[in-house]
Amino acid sequence: MSKSTRSVHRATKPIINIPIIPGDKSISHRAILLAALADGKSHIHGLSGGDDVVRTLTAIETLGATIKSESNFVSISGSIIETNSAIRNVTIDCGNSGTGIRLLMGLAAGLEGSFQFDGDDSLRKRPMDRVATPLELMGAHIEGIGDSLTPPIVVRGGNLNGIDYEVPVPSAQVKSAIMFAALFASKPTVVREKSSTRAHSEEMFRASGIDIEINDKTILINPGVPTARDWQIPIDPSQAAFWVVAALLNPESQLVLENVYVGKERIGFVKVLQRMGAKVSVEERDSVLRIGTVTATASPLRATDISPEEVPSLVDEIPILAVAAAHAEGESHFNGLSELRIKESDRLATTQRLIESLGATAQLNGDDLLIRGTDEFHGGFICETEGDHRIAMSAAIAALVASDAIEITRFKESTETSYPEFAAEIEKLQ
Ligand code: S3P
Repeated sequence: MSKSTRSVHRATKPIINIPIIPGDKSISHRAILLAALADGKSHIHGLSGGDDVVRTLTAIETLGATIKSESNFVSISGSIIETNSAIRNVTIDCGNSGTGIRLLMGLAAGLEGSFQFDGDDSLRKRPMDRVATPLELMGAHIEGIGDSLTPPIVVRGGNLNGIDYEVPVPSAQVKSAIMFAALFASKPTVVREKSSTRAHSEEMFRASGIDIEINDKTILINPGVPTARDWQIPIDPSQAAFWVVAALLNPESQLVLENVYVGKERIGFVKVLQRMGAKVSVEERDSVLRIGTVTATASPLRATDISPEEVPSLVDEIPILAVAAAHAEGESHFNGLSELRIKESDRLATTQRLIESLGATAQLNGDDLLIRGTDEFHGGFICETEGDHRIAMSAAIAALVASDAIEITRFKESTETSYPEFAAEIEKLQ
């Protein structure tokens, strides 16, 4: 067996001790970019240590920001807008990170010069045309491979116009790339969404003093320079979701997670689990920062349906919700999952394979997934993660209640992209 394949066994204890969970990945990327643009020094506390975020830090250093890592925070001296005139031709390796590359493309579109973006094999399969189209309308020049513009990508930026653009896909990454470019435009930019996606960019632009107006699903962004400030990154709800499901499935478990980001565009998974009969709750403790406490107690689960409209609020949680549905009584229907085909893997295919290997039924009908649950998960199989962190972590959580161990390929490499502490937390339960 390859060294990077990891065997995860049934848990020897309930999930009670609070696992280390990283700072939110989406918020971390945005805090870094805003700090890079700000005129002055920002401090970021609780930054995710995942490789995706580390790559974004390295990227802004390449673009001219100064970074200092202290014991419990990172300080960033920004104003890459000014220092950038010296930087004309650079290559930035975004690793596995779709959020990193798309947000950075938006930022680079506003800078003078030529910027090449590349990544690993998975990133080289992901479409960048969804970001390139609006950025080109703003005046940037973007090249990539094939019709869907996969990396390597070249962005030639500078001299942007404001645009009025309706985002054709439900994607916070696309919305946010346009918002970062809009900071450099000659006029205000309007971004319209068909369905609401995570609102971190809106919240964080406001907190940085950028003049934006929000009217339902329409955002108007005035050009401007963000103010340097201190950021406290809350716990990542998408990573908390793995432990919430672990607690629900493992008898006698009880978990209380504090300081989790609980904005409604991120916490759809809790509503789904509540419909499944799970004892899980969210209590918002700070309505401005949208931080709260999530609790979960072991519970029997029943099937539920997920509608296409709620998918943006739980897009990253589909694999772990599929594990929950695979352990539930009855038939669940997850509908409208087309966006999963272009994540770190074809996540519809990798999720279906995992659920079937566990001994439940998983049928794909177009972009809809039907799951019929089973009482007992099988182990004794190899989960091919294709390097997708969310598949690796979902398989590990399933293994905690499976009859035999599950061998998970590329475990370390994939979990380290977003959750470097995950492997050690699983180890504590073995
Ligand atoms: C993210 C948006 C989502 C999500 C990703 C992070 C973000 O992607 O899947 O993990 O930080 O904006 P899409 O915008 O492509 O749906």
